[in-house]
Amino acid sequence: MESAGGRIATGAGPDGPVVSVRNLTVTFAGSGRPVAAVRGVDFDVFANEVLGIVGESGSGKSVTALAVSALLPNTARAEGSVVVGGTEVITASPERLRRLRGDDVGFVFQDPATTLNPVLPVGRQITEGPVAHGTLPAARARQYPHQFSGGMRQRAVIAMAWRAARN
Ligand SMILES: Nc1ncnc2c1ncn2[C@@H]1O[C@H](COP(=O)(O)OP(=O)(O)OP(=O)(O)O)[C@@H](O)[C@H]1O
Ligand SMILES: [Mg+2]
Repeated sequence: MESAGGRIATGAGPDGPVVSVRNLTVTFAGSGRPVAAVRGVDFDVFANEVLGIVGESGSGKSVTALAVSALLPNTARAEGSVVVGGTEVITASPERLRRLRGDDVGFVFQDPATTLNPVLPVGRQITEGPVAHGTLPAARARQYPHQFSGGMRQRAVIAMAWRAARN
């Protein structure tokens, strides 16, 4: 994926962007030559702003989002700059990234059916981890993902991301 327009900030500061991506390139090492999934992407996201990334399948939208969330797999190599809440994600320590993921960044995965663990009750998955402690209907909380509709499963993972973002 490559950049196409968008609002680019000139500097950081209290009114600066919450997320700032510059010249992001992500390549995957494989058996053959490395594959560039993302090439030279730039964008900023400011507080209370929503950014939609549109592109054909395989163009690198999810890989870009994974890079911002510090969730790229080990086979991926990210270059450039990804600053989230003042932290340079690409060079941050594993401990700093763990805190960032828990406190500042939430992620609604593309496929909630495979994101949720099928053998754990939904409520336990929502309340799992250091950031989650919500109130939700107890009967639903005890149910398993297969007892939820697709929309309910998606709302469950949105709740997980929302708790992380509010913490
Ligand atoms: N773990 C991985 N290992 C190797 N290549 C990968 C990996 N994840 C993604 N890719 C490759 O990176 C490219 C971008 O994939 P990505 O999932 O970001 O596409 P997308 O824009 O989100 O597509 P879609 O609209 O279908 O969700 C694709 O060519 C894909 O095959
Ligand atoms: Mg995708």
